[in-house]
Amino acid sequence: MDLSRNDVINAILSRHSVSPKRVVAPGPDQAQILELIAAAAAAPDHGKLRPWRFINFPQISRGALADVFEAALLERMPDANAEALSRAREKASRAPVVLGLVLRLDHQIGIPHVDDQLVSGGAALQNVLLASHAMGFGARALSGQAVRTQAFRTALDIADDEIFLCFIAIGTPTTAPKRNARPAPEALLTQWQG
Ligand SMILES: Cc1cc2nc3c(=O)[nH]c(=O)nc-3n(C[C@H](O)[C@H](O)[C@H](O)COP(=O)(O)O)c2cc1C
Repeated sequence: MDLSRNDVINAILSRHSVSPKRVVAPGPDQAQILELIAAAAAAPDHGKLRPWRFINFPQISRGALADVFEAALLERMPDANAEALSRAREKASRAPVVLGLVLRLDHQIGIPHVDDQLVSGGAALQNVLLASHAMGFGARALSGQAVRTQAFRTALDIADDEIFLCFIAIGTPTTAPKRNARPAPEALLTQWQG
């Protein structure tokens, strides 16, 4: 393995989310998108269930995605005005690359427990965010209210046992990094005394 340990640790410690409002083209190309998904596939996966999948929303699909955001808002707020509808539609065009992360949780299987499946999806998400950062892109996970609407689930063919967890918006950052302060590691660690 020719990985420099410091490069990995530095990438993890310097990763931060970048708002889709602060990214422009280019985003990852097709080969890089596949590399991001390969990174996701390296996530821990109890029972080899691979309880998640990704959807790519290429530029050609963004008009249709805007229609879905509009329908989702009308489902939640039938009286939404034109400005609110326009803002909802704009969400579809924000970042050069938009991926969706869908979890498929098996509540019956028992082992691995559904919590393990959920965490596997979270690890896949983190691997995509981290790999995007390592490639020099800015990325952010975004869920929002639309993803839970029936209009959204139907348009995207989200099955009954699936959850559309979030979008991942990815592009080239236009501004200097804005990193959230991280908690001191000591505050996150206790020592079990037996
Ligand atoms: C699954 C998931 C969904 C998220 N959805 C949103 C969202 O809809 N809106 C938002 O402002 N932040 C959302 N966040 C949080 C941001 O993606 C980001 O993690 C947060 O702003 C902290 O930034 P950092 O990653 O630089 O620490 C979500 C995070 C996760 C893990």
